[in-house]
Amino acid sequence: MMRTTGETSGEGALRRASVGDAVRLGGALLAPWDGVRAALWGDWRAVRLRHRYGPGPLRIALPGRRPVLVLTPDDAHRVLTASAEFAPTDLTGEGGIPRHLLPHRVPAPPGEDAARRRGLDEEVLDAHQQVHRAAGPMMLRIQQEAARLLETVAADGELTWGAYAAAYRRLARRLVLGDAARDDRMLTDAFGALLAASAPGARIRGRGAGAAAEEVFRGRLRAHIERAEPESLAGRLTRESAEGDGHRLSQVARWLSGFGAAGVTAYRTLVLLAARPDRLARVRDELSGLHAAHPPSPVSVPYLRACALEAARLWPVVPTVWRRSVAETRWGEATLPAGSTLLVVLPLFGRDGATLPYADRFEPDVWLDGRAVEDGVVAPFGAGSGRCPGESLALMTVTLLLAGLLRGHEPRLSRRPRGLDPGHPLPRILDHGAVRVALDPLPAPVVGR
Ligand code: HEM
Repeated sequence: MMRTTGETSGEGALRRASVGDAVRLGGALLAPWDGVRAALWGDWRAVRLRHRYGPGPLRIALPGRRPVLVLTPDDAHRVLTASAEFAPTDLTGEGGIPRHLLPHRVPAPPGEDAARRRGLDEEVLDAHQQVHRAAGPMMLRIQQEAARLLETVAADGELTWGAYAAAYRRLARRLVLGDAARDDRMLTDAFGALLAASAPGARIRGRGAGAAAEEVFRGRLRAHIERAEPESLAGRLTRESAEGDGHRLSQVARWLSGFGAAGVTAYRTLVLLAARPDRLARVRDELSGLHAAHPPSPVSVPYLRACALEAARLWPVVPTVWRRSVAETRWGEATLPAGSTLLVVLPLFGRDGATLPYADRFEPDVWLDGRAVEDGVVAPFGAGSGRCPGESLALMTVTLLLAGLLRGHEPRLSRRPRGLDPGHPLPRILDHGAVRVALDPLPAPVVGR
């Protein structure tokens, strides 16, 4: 085991990453490309860090900030769920968390009341219900967009990420802002450019057009929120809150970003199912037990829901979760002062081969037989008081969209990406944008079953 380096914090010594490791860990958080960051984390499995530094938390250095990284499932569980010791934090700006490492990459506006915003998120997104109270109109829209996407697939011969993403973004705009926003591609394009401009290395890649993109995005988003239809999430927010413009804009932008994460997860779930006929057969069994003329309810497809959770575990769309200690905390011999920033890197635990026998396999059953919950930090939506308030909505959207695509069609990988063969450990990165999926029509179901 590697020598413990001697930073003293409060009463005891907290381990500090060596200079070489600090550079590699910093690279794994700040590398300009998502894929590179994911690969670097893959290389830095928790088991390796624990072997080098022992199990306690580790102080790492990023430019302008020195967060503490937790290395064991128990510590990660504690940081996520012990709300008397740790609170969710969104510390952006000088010395804060880099924007691209925030859950949905949208920082809070200055002066925002975080507790009030959280309350509104939970209320409007119906965070504590598996089925949103406005699920009916949402389900209809999901069904419509799935049907239109199938028409595109029939014309093109297969499903590409480009066609899927265009259809999914239409759906997300309808759900968040209302039907009038359905075709506003400029809004989503400007949002994409804004997020890209705030990623590390944007200047290296010559994407310094952030300010222009931000102006377009904010102008269009403001107009949509002002006329948002009552059934949309933005319409509900307007009814619930009298908050100022900046607060509402950032909150709705975060929801749009959250829906983006759900869209990627849905596509990856489809790819996994196309690669695993045995898992697909179980989805098909589940779907065939439902009434053919009606969309499934989000709770009537638990196996498909578990498949989506697996895709989110295997390739986390939100890999880093942050907390701030609200009191002094003890870690064995070491003490950490109140106000420290703690970092939980979800894939370190969700794909930890040392603790999870299913780490690199597609095992939806772990979400149905209690294993994922017992393992404590297999938590693609986070946990505790910061847990993603959009989880139920995301899972409803993913399952119903996939149900719409799969009820009458058999997915088949037109070109199998490397590493998806049954029996092989799944890769740390899935370049979903490069995967094409054929959707072959199944014989028509018998109506009334
Ligand atoms: C597969 C899809 C999604 C995944 C994997 C995901 C994951 C996460 C994670 C890990 C967090 C941080 C949790 C924590 O601190 O413990 C988070 C926060 C959050 N998510 Fe999601 N999310 C998804 C979709 C959504 C959707 C659809 C929405 C809204 C409609 C949403 C809204 C939020 C909000 C408002 C926060 C709090 C952010 C903050 O306080 O800064 N998410 N999400």
